Amino acid sequence: MLKYSGKSLYAEGVSVSALAGKLGTPLYVYSAARLLKNYRAFDSGFARLPHLVCFALKANSNLSVARTFARSGAGADIVSGGELYRALLAGFSPKKIVFSGVGKTREEMKSALAKGILCFNVESVEELQSLNETARSMKKRAPVSLRVNPEVQAGTHRHITTGTKENKFGIPKSHILSAYETARRLRNIEIVGLQAHIGSQITSVAPFERLVIVLLEIVDQLAGRGIRLKHLDLGGGLGITYHREVPPTPADLARAFEPRLKGRTLKLLFEPGRFLVGEAGILVTRVLYRKRTGHKTFVVVDAAMNDLARPALYDSYHEIVPARKNGNARETVDVVGPVCESGDYFARARSIPYSERGDYLAIKNAGAYGFAMSSQYNSRPRAAEVMVSGRKWRVVRKRETLEDLIRGEK
Ligand code: LLP
Repeated sequence: MLKYSGKSLYAEGVSVSALAGKLGTPLYVYSAARLLKNYRAFDSGFARLPHLVCFALKANSNLSVARTFARSGAGADIVSGGELYRALLAGFSPKKIVFSGVGKTREEMKSALAKGILCFNVESVEELQSLNETARSMKKRAPVSLRVNPEVQAGTHRHITTGTKENKFGIPKSHILSAYETARRLRNIEIVGLQAHIGSQITSVAPFERLVIVLLEIVDQLAGRGIRLKHLDLGGGLGITYHREVPPTPADLARAFEPRLKGRTLKLLFEPGRFLVGEAGILVTRVLYRKRTGHKTFVVVDAAMNDLARPALYDSYHEIVPARKNGNARETVDVVGPVCESGDYFARARSIPYSERGDYLAIKNAGAYGFAMSSQYNSRPRAAEVMVSGRKWRVVRKRETLEDLIRGEK
């Protein structure tokens, strides 16, 4: 989606600095073509297996981003009533929506039951009972997958590992059969599948392969008890290249799964977030000041941890490139934001092209868990979001105003 034409950086056919000059910064810029390319890579990678790709809205819940996937036939993975609201507005068919999350409320269950979603991914026996009661009160049956904690190491950051004994997610592998027996006895529960999600930013095939093995074992044990499943939901987690990672492609995963799934009629569900949106977005920011301390050089920019929290939270790497090349000089700097926290940084001791006051920089791979995790911390209005498509662009979320900051306050 990003390339230089001469000295200027372009997002598809749109000059990044022209856009930033017009709309102000910080500014999220998404490429429609890249969103579609990512979705197609996932969908066609698994073409030989029956499957449904459910976009994990938590990675980027902007309505226009979500709608791009909905129009292409994707489903949605939601984790709250708020995401259900967004998913429906974006045009996802309820029949393609799965509802994940460790703490669904009755109200959330009710609205999802009323819409007739594809599946609830249930994470505890208490939640199962609560869902059963809620469905009974509505004279409905709730379609359910149980989420198993498969005890598979994803080999990723500890904050985004989810499938080990230490994590709050899912039902322990050792309890999963008895949980299915409980589910079978509940009259307003309909068992449809089995789900797991082992973590995020996974950059090798092996953890996914181990996951498939564990899940198929459970599928077979359930079949032995007369419980037959329609689908197997492998969660999300496929990584992207932030720095030097070389993650597998969806087609690589499909090739690894195919021999194991041969002769089975199970439909596969996936819940990718990062893979679909991560590389399709940048955060554009302006250099406010330079500060040399004798010890270091700081480049202070107008975006901050409230706009993109990943470096502060996970020490994550995001490549930073200039919107206009000034020459070949490079320097080693800390790129930091204006928020009053030492953790407010985008790069530390990083060699980047020399930049000065007023220059625009693009922080790359910011499409996933960027705007979605942004806040108004330090009373900073949230950034604007824009979608480019060829030479066209469209503001898909207005920059917040000062009034937005105090809405509802007294
Ligand atoms: N399904 C479930 C049940 C999940 O918990 C998640 C992510 C996904 C799907 C999508 O995973 P993905 O394909 O995007 O890896 N804020 C962190 C990532 C948190 C991921 C939480 N769960 C970050 O910025 O790296």
